[in-house]
Amino acid sequence: MSDGRVRPHFTTRGLIPEIQETPILFLRGSIYDEGYWFLRNHFQYPDLTSASGNLLIGGAVSKAFVIKLEDLKRLPSQTITVPLICAGNQRAEFRPKVYGEQWEEGAVSQGVWTGVPLKELLSIAGLKEDALEVVFTGEDRGTTPNVDEVVPYERSLPMNKALHPDTLVAYEYNGQPIPYKHGYPLRLIVPNWYGMASVKWLQQITVVDQPYEGPFQTDDYVYYPHPHTDEGKSPVTTIRVNSIIQQPLDYSIIDEGAHVIVGLAWSGEGQIEEVEISFDKGNTWEAVTLAQDRTKRFAWTEWQYIWKTPSKGTYPIQTRAKDSNGNVQPEREYWNRKGYGYNAIHRIDVKVK
Ligand code: MTE
Repeated sequence: MSDGRVRPHFTTRGLIPEIQETPILFLRGSIYDEGYWFLRNHFQYPDLTSASGNLLIGGAVSKAFVIKLEDLKRLPSQTITVPLICAGNQRAEFRPKVYGEQWEEGAVSQGVWTGVPLKELLSIAGLKEDALEVVFTGEDRGTTPNVDEVVPYERSLPMNKALHPDTLVAYEYNGQPIPYKHGYPLRLIVPNWYGMASVKWLQQITVVDQPYEGPFQTDDYVYYPHPHTDEGKSPVTTIRVNSIIQQPLDYSIIDEGAHVIVGLAWSGEGQIEEVEISFDKGNTWEAVTLAQDRTKRFAWTEWQYIWKTPSKGTYPIQTRAKDSNGNVQPEREYWNRKGYGYNAIHRIDVKVK
């Protein structure tokens, strides 16, 4: 934190456990250190011990084993730039409103992760024939609604995602050990999925032969499209295509003249192909300029547009992104009871004076 830059003030959405949002205006450039990184915790921080970093891999495998951090670091590794997008990001924008942390746009961050592909560890352990899912247990524990006992933060991945070459057991962030509040010493990194999948303080990996059920898997992080029943529910997984405007801020009052509008776009379902902007409630759209490094397969895309303001008045500014798989932001959000995966066309309103 000694590089002389002005650091943003976070918006605190919870003190115990710590939940903090970054002002998105500060997220320029492609990677961030801890001073810019939102925090989403379900429990208090774990007390790490000398055993933290000894990772147990067991369950439906031929040979369960424990690997120490030093030994893990000697295995072949991968380094990838990956954004972390909380599934509840922009929850405050759902209409009708929904319960949960009222995130605006700042539960997002991005950095460079180094780790061992999970599939290497699973191949050393040897999957049994009936292996179905892989469960990841964090060291943090606590109580949660609808469960009587103390539980860890724990989630599973289906086997195809667990065996994906880019799913990592990470030990470095931006070339340094992972910051404590973000999962030191080991963290699962699941590119293209919302942040809940990337389990911090990873302690144990268990291969199971039955579908895993747990509060963070089959209660939270589930889309419930119906306001009162579980009808049509489905798990929250891949990050939906989205774009946000970082500057100007919503409700800005700006002078007549040329203004640079900047923002970000991302998708877990393909690379960003196009971001369009509209100043007339979506009647006409124009393409913005993308700053893209296609070698960074998972990274978000920064974009900008020079706006020569028309005459004085108030204007809506809207953006909509499209990805390489043809996904486009919808006009209205896909409403769901717990408020996950918001990706409706982004809108701010500004006044030109
Ligand atoms: N891992 C553990 N062990 N405990 C948690 O509470 N929160 C998850 C995920 N992994 C969580 C976790 C959620 S919901 C998100 S969005 C990200 O971590 C947040 O990561 P960050 O706090 O490093 O930004």
